Amino acid sequence: MATQAKDTQAQSYPTHPDAEKPRVRGDKISGERYWSKDFAEREWEHMWKKVWHVGGRVSQLEEPGDFITHEFKHESILMVKQEDGSIKAFFNVCMHRGNRLVSVDEGGVTDAITCPYHGWKWALNGDLKWVLDPEDFSKGNPCGKLKLKEVRCDTWGGFIFWSFDPDAKPLLDYLHPIPELLGNRDIENYTRVVWMSLRVNTNWKFASDNFNEAYHIPSVHPQFMPMIDDHYSTTIFEMYPSGHNRMIEKLQPSSRTDSKDSIEPLWAEVLSAWNIDPESFNGRAQEGRTALQKARREQGPERGFHYATKLTDDELTDQFHHTLFPNLTLTATFEGLHLFRTEPDPEDPNWSTFDYWYLVPEVEGETEVATLSGMRPYEEAERETGSYTDYKAEIAQGDFLTQDLALAETQQRGLRSMAFEDAYLADQETRVRRFHEVLNDYVEGRR
Ligand code: FES
Ligand SMILES: [Fe+2]
Repeated sequence: MATQAKDTQAQSYPTHPDAEKPRVRGDKISGERYWSKDFAEREWEHMWKKVWHVGGRVSQLEEPGDFITHEFKHESILMVKQEDGSIKAFFNVCMHRGNRLVSVDEGGVTDAITCPYHGWKWALNGDLKWVLDPEDFSKGNPCGKLKLKEVRCDTWGGFIFWSFDPDAKPLLDYLHPIPELLGNRDIENYTRVVWMSLRVNTNWKFASDNFNEAYHIPSVHPQFMPMIDDHYSTTIFEMYPSGHNRMIEKLQPSSRTDSKDSIEPLWAEVLSAWNIDPESFNGRAQEGRTALQKARREQGPERGFHYATKLTDDELTDQFHHTLFPNLTLTATFEGLHLFRTEPDPEDPNWSTFDYWYLVPEVEGETEVATLSGMRPYEEAERETGSYTDYKAEIAQGDFLTQDLALAETQQRGLRSMAFEDAYLADQETRVRRFHEVLNDYVEGRR
C-alpha cells in the first residue's frame, strides 16, 4: 500500500518505507563503459538478459491472434494475444530452420502464425499445429513435439513487459516500489498519444544519467525555470534497494533565479488556465503552486479531469521522475505520463535508440490533448521513427528533447577521450553514480 508522507504538512504524495537518501560506494564512472564493445557485451550477458523490458502497450493487442514485435539488440520478441485474453511472448524464430517468423511491428492472425519459409503453422500458444509432409520426418511428426521458445511475459500499468530470464523475479517485485508510488494514477487506462523512436549517436546510458539529475536544467533547458523548480533545496531525491530512483520537483518558479518571485509568461499561462489571476501572485510567484493545487482540486472534476480526485495535492502540480533501472524513466505530471527509454544498438555501443512516449488519462469532453508534438487526438498514436535531428517540437518548451539529445552526442565524443577518468559529481547528482553501481552489480555478478 502506498502511504502518504507525513513529515511536513506542506508535502503530500505516495511514499514507500524502502526509500533511502541516495548514497554510493564510490565506483568510478569510467569513459570506456560508454564506447567499449567488451563492456557492451558484458552488459548484454549479465544485465540485459536478466532484466524486464517494456515490449509495448496492452491496448495494441485487441483480439486473440493480434501480435506485436520488439527488436532488442540482435533478438526479436513476439508478443501474442491468447484466446483467453492473456499475452504470451516468444522468440520471433521458427523452430524448423530458424527463419524469423514475423517481420512487421504489429499485425494479427486468426489462429496460427505461418512461417514464410516452409509454411509451418504455429498456434497462438506456440504449439506447432501444421507442417507440410508430416509423414516424411523419420524422427516423427514435429507437430505436438515442437513449440516456439517462450520468454517470460507479464503486464503492469497497461505496459507489456518481457524478460529473457526464465528465473527473473516476478515483474512487480522487479518494479518495486514504483507501481505503488504511481498507485494514484490509472496508467493502465492511459492512451499513448505520442510514440517516437529516434536514432541517436550516443551510448544508451546517456539517458539514464541525464534523467537521474536536474543539475543540467539551468544550462540546457532555461525555458523551464519559470515553472519548474530545479533547485536541489526544494527537490526530493530517493533511491530504493531495487535499483530504481525517484526525484520530485515542485511546479513553481525555480528557487535559483533572481526572478523567482516574479511571474514569467509561462507561469502566468499555467495559472491563467485554471482561472488564477497571475498578477495577484506577483512578488510571491512560488505561492501560485498551492493556488494551482486548490484550483485543480476544485475545478478539476467539473472540467472533466475526473482523475484529479484520486491525486494528492502535490500530485496535482509536481513532477515525479521515476528512473527505473536500467533504461526506463517514467515522469508523472498532472497531465499525464512521459516515458523515456534508450536501448543499445545491436552492434555499436556508440549508437542507441531513444523512445519517447506520452500517455494521458481521459479528460471528459476533450477530443484533443496538448503534447510536445502539438495538439493530438485522444487516440493511440502510430509509431514515428527517424533521427533525432529530424524531430521538431511544436511548442517552445518541447525543445527539451532536442536539447538533451544534442548534449548526448557531444558528451559521447568527450567520454571517448583518454582525458576522462571519472565524473566529479555534485551531491544532487548522486543517483547518476548509483545507477552505475547497480549496473556494476549486474556486470560483476552481484545481482
Ligand atoms: S524455417 Fe520456418 S518453416 Fe522452415
Ligand atoms: Fe534534460
